[in-house]
Order: sequence, then C-alpha cells, then structure tokens
Amino acid sequence: MRGAVRATAAIVTLALASHAAAQTVAPVPAATPITGHVLPLHVPIRAVMAGIIDFSAFGVEKAAHATEPLNDKDWLSVGLAALNLVGASTLITLPGTGPNDATWVADPEWTKWAADMQTSATNVAIAVRRQDRAALNLAAADLGAACQSCHSQFRDASPGSGDTRLAAQ
Ligand code: HEC
Repeated sequence: MRGAVRATAAIVTLALASHAAAQTVAPVPAATPITGHVLPLHVPIRAVMAGIIDFSAFGVEKAAHATEPLNDKDWLSVGLAALNLVGASTLITLPGTGPNDATWVADPEWTKWAADMQTSATNVAIAVRRQDRAALNLAAADLGAACQSCHSQFRDASPGSGDTRLAAQ
C-alpha cells in the first residue's frame, strides 16, 4: 500500500518535472472530465420566475422607465438586476420540481426564448457598463418581449399557472 502511494507520487513528480521526463514513464492519464457537476434545481421553474426573474426584471423596467437621469446607485442596481437575469436564464433551462418543468426544458422553443432572455439581459448589462440610456431602453424592451413570447407559448397554456406570487403564498 505504502509502496503504491510512493510509486504514484513518483509518477506525478516525474510527470510534473518536464515533458521530456514524462516520456520516460508511463503516460499520466488525462484528468477525468467532470460529469454530473450541475446541481439539481430543487424548486419549480415557477419559483425562479417569482423569486429571481420577476424581481430583477422589475429593476430593469424601473430604470428603463425612469423620467429622471439615473445616478450611480441606479446604474449599479440595474446592472446587478441584469446579471441576475443572465444567470436565471441558464437556471430555467434546468428542470426543477414543477410538474411541467421537464417537458418545457426539453422543447427547443423553450430554449430559444430562454436564450433571447439571456441575450437581452446581457445587452442590458452592456448598456449599463456604458451608461447608455438609449441602449438600456432598447435592451429592456427586448427583454420584455422575450418574457411575453415565452409566456404566450408556455405559461398561458399551462393550467393552474397564474399571477399569484409564490413569495406571497
Ligand atoms: C422560456 C420561457 C419563459 C421565459 C423566457 C420567461 N418566463 Fe416567466 N414563466 C414561464 C412559465 C411557463 C411560467 C408558468 C410557470 C408555472 O405556472 O409553473 C412563468 C411564470 C412567470 C411568473 C409567475 C410566477 C408565479 O408566482 O406564478 C412571473 C411573475 C414571470 N413568469 C415573470 C417573467 C419575466 C418578468 C420574464 C422575463 C424577464 C419571464 N418570466 C421570462 C416561462 C417563461
């Protein structure tokens, strides 16, 4: 046992020393690819909508519709909201615990709308970095269109889905 450990240590040392040295010992196997490294989503997609997406989209809309110029704090808030949406777009491509989640995420149209949401949210983040109000408004409008397109295809067709916020239940 101790011998095996010593032998392994020697192989590692030689392999690390140089490529030339590595040729003289048994090749070290390539690192095992990481599989199954995505954590399960232990809530329904609906909860991601209510808990992250709606909240963050509200932050983007609020900034886009503000009549006053945005101050540094406003830009920071809308930037953080955009980042939440970029991440949440990936989250909703994972099936959670909702009854329709697995069917939804397997549909290419679902992925398309999630990708549209992610692109729009990324464009919001870019507009924020440039503090470009016109670009912010355009990206926010695209974002709203992505929400609505997906809702009209999937949400409205789903019996039992309504406006009631999970957070309020
Ligand atoms: C890829 C499709 C898709 C996209 C994109 C999407 N939604 Fe949804 N959303 C759904 C579906 C489907 C439901 C219904 C879920 C259910 O009832 O199980 C839903 C539900 C909701 C709900 C209701 C949550 C509740 O408590 O019942 C809100 C609010 C919401 N979405 C907001 C948004 C906003 C805001 C955006 C855009 C920033 C957005 N969604 C983008 C598919 C989408």
